[in-house]
Amino acid sequence: MTAHDPVAASGDTAAVEPAMVPGFGNHVATEAVPGALPVGRNSPQRVPYGLYAEQLSGTAFTAPRTENKRSWLYRLRPAANHDAFEPYRNAGLLRSAPFDEVPPNPNRLRWDPLAFPEAPTDWVDGLVTYGGNGDVGAGTGVGIHLYACNLSMKQRAFFNADGELLIVPQEGSLRIVTELGLLTVEPQQIAVIPRGVRFRVELLDGPARGYVCENYGAPFRLPDLGPIGANGLANPRDFETPVAWFEDEDVPTLLIQKFQGGLWSTALGHSPFDVVAWHGNLAPYRYDLRRFNTINTVSFDHPDPSIFTVLTSPSETPGTANCDFVIFPPRWMVAEDTFRPPWFHRNVMSEYMGLITGEYDAKEGGFLPGGGSLHNQMNGHGPDRASYEKAVAADLAPFKIENTMAFMFETRHVIRTTPWAMRTPPMQLDYDAVWANMERAKLP
Ligand SMILES: [Fe+2]
Repeated sequence: MTAHDPVAASGDTAAVEPAMVPGFGNHVATEAVPGALPVGRNSPQRVPYGLYAEQLSGTAFTAPRTENKRSWLYRLRPAANHDAFEPYRNAGLLRSAPFDEVPPNPNRLRWDPLAFPEAPTDWVDGLVTYGGNGDVGAGTGVGIHLYACNLSMKQRAFFNADGELLIVPQEGSLRIVTELGLLTVEPQQIAVIPRGVRFRVELLDGPARGYVCENYGAPFRLPDLGPIGANGLANPRDFETPVAWFEDEDVPTLLIQKFQGGLWSTALGHSPFDVVAWHGNLAPYRYDLRRFNTINTVSFDHPDPSIFTVLTSPSETPGTANCDFVIFPPRWMVAEDTFRPPWFHRNVMSEYMGLITGEYDAKEGGFLPGGGSLHNQMNGHGPDRASYEKAVAADLAPFKIENTMAFMFETRHVIRTTPWAMRTPPMQLDYDAVWANMERAKLP
């Protein structure tokens, strides 16, 4: 629990160190003012202090209990207290499924890091879509975005009606003010903002850049562990959820929403971050990727990269994810008589990769922090020639891959690119060359 801090109410959120509670998907009960949270019922006739009780449903009412996600919010004004939304116009680089502006492209694609903007640009206006799949209306697929921004959101708030947002900072720390509390994230941490939750993004140490997986499908959850057992990979206790925190400010605030791919805005006369208490299991959360319990071979062969899954959004087909969020963290390589980098591969799933820091062990260059690559369904990829030649010649003593953090959004449907993604730059024109002139195998 945390007390409402009058400094925070002035908007100086940097003065407040966010409190968090541990655990993935837990039912949390939290109040920023003692006595604000109703006891024993969700919607009493008179809520303490005259607060408004409001349910935020992340799943259908009748979703099975193990899937059901909802929270009850107790706030100064109901979220319904706003005028009509009008179309919101910015640079127009944020896109949504069905991503049909350019033809689906089977080529292996790779991009240079997204440049930082020169004009003042906040997190919402700094979102640029590279591609995605599925159908935003049908609730399937993902949108893949990068953000690059140099301005904190002030008197501006955003929510996404189209899906939850998995935010992967690559450069610069963020303080994310949400209806349900505050969370800070730095590179090598992630934040997940549920569908519909209002938030704003403030920059803590200068310009910021990162990746966003917009998940139109089932909310991310921890993957099953099967024979791994009850522990390992991303452990539930390392996920953190904020506690109640609010602003009591009657200041003009532009509330922007993304709805079926379009951006809309309405002017509020008050801060939307006015939830004084809440309880439930639908809330933003944070996870530090450096806490991932990496599991790898201690005998031979590189395991399938699913062993590095942090979170998964399942589809209706068992084991075939709408999206897996997978990381390639620092780890010991000890396999014997094994080609140690990720092997050559053609995949029914489609793979978007990004790099948070360091180098990725299957690429000797060209794949840079803040950049990305795309290997679509059934198209061959794998280590580049330099990485291959180094790996087959290597002395296989135990070796630690250090100072690196790459990730993958792996999804069941082909990732279709946007017009922005096909511009050169940032799209590289020479990516195919990394596999050119591989030496032919020699038969006896
Ligand atoms: Fe692959």
